[in-house]
Amino acid sequence: MNIQWYPGHMTKAMRAMKADIAMVDVIIELLDARAPFASRNPDIDELGRGKSRVVLLNKADLADDRMNEAWIRYFKNRGFFVLKINAKSGTGMKQILPVVQEACREKIERNRRRGILNRPVRAMVVGIPNVGKSTFINSFVGKSKAKTGNKPGVTRANQWIRINPSLELLDTPGVLWPKFEDPGIGVSLALIGSINDEIVNKEELAFELIRHLCRYAPEGLKRRYDLETGSEEPDIPAMTQILEIIARRRGLLAKGGEPELEKAAGILLDDFRAGRLGTVTLEVPPSGDAA
Ligand code: G4P
Repeated sequence: MNIQWYPGHMTKAMRAMKADIAMVDVIIELLDARAPFASRNPDIDELGRGKSRVVLLNKADLADDRMNEAWIRYFKNRGFFVLKINAKSGTGMKQILPVVQEACREKIERNRRRGILNRPVRAMVVGIPNVGKSTFINSFVGKSKAKTGNKPGVTRANQWIRINPSLELLDTPGVLWPKFEDPGIGVSLALIGSINDEIVNKEELAFELIRHLCRYAPEGLKRRYDLETGSEEPDIPAMTQILEIIARRRGLLAKGGEPELEKAAGILLDDFRAGRLGTVTLEVPPSGDAA
């Protein structure tokens, strides 16, 4: 399927990040565990050159746990500190502080040798839309922590938040847009809800999801809609039939009794995004890192 995309959106947030990057020790990058590759903006590597890097695979509760482990290996092999988390429930969040400290250990020790004690590590949190950045920051910061206010040289709207005496977070407003040329990446981004549904054809997107589920995770479809998926590689008529069954099971029928396929597609996409089709990962890391 062809997704129209306008990466011009990206520049404002990127500019703000570039302006503040010199003040930051570590970049905490939030990714969607269901599509860790598609949900990375590759420009962050350029921005974060020379900085410590922490990757958080968020929404790990919605992803296949074997794939979570495979992606953890993938990022560790590339020099990142990695954790899987669920920012909504808080699972995995306790480990973040020690991992950030570990990621910045050299810097902390260098400071100590120079007699700079008690200087907090400064972290910038980045993530594309819907990856769970607000949920993460609220959960990580907690309600009691006050914002420390602006400092000279920091973009006015950006705020330093003191997590504890050893860590400050730079809360960057604005959105890091995803970036892609490969249409497959666009499909993953649309499926995880990081690209607005209005710019995609819901039925075609549902077909992409059905294709993936029939191959890798058919049980969820069977369980949720009481249907047999049949082939691991369904053709268009077979996938249309699956949407028809979903429409009938949910009573989505037009006046003449015709199943409403677009509505069925919407239900399927919502169910997937909410984890009601089981734990599903859309992307497999390159074979050397797979389980
Ligand atoms: P953003 O700032 O990156 O755009 O994302 P935001 O925090 O608004 O989160 C987007 C959606 O993802 C929210 O759901 C949020 O609850 C959910 N979410 C965030 N982290 C996790 C996670 O680790 N696991 C799961 N399962 N969901 C997560 P929503 O439906 O938009 O809102 P709500 O109904 O949950 O309030």
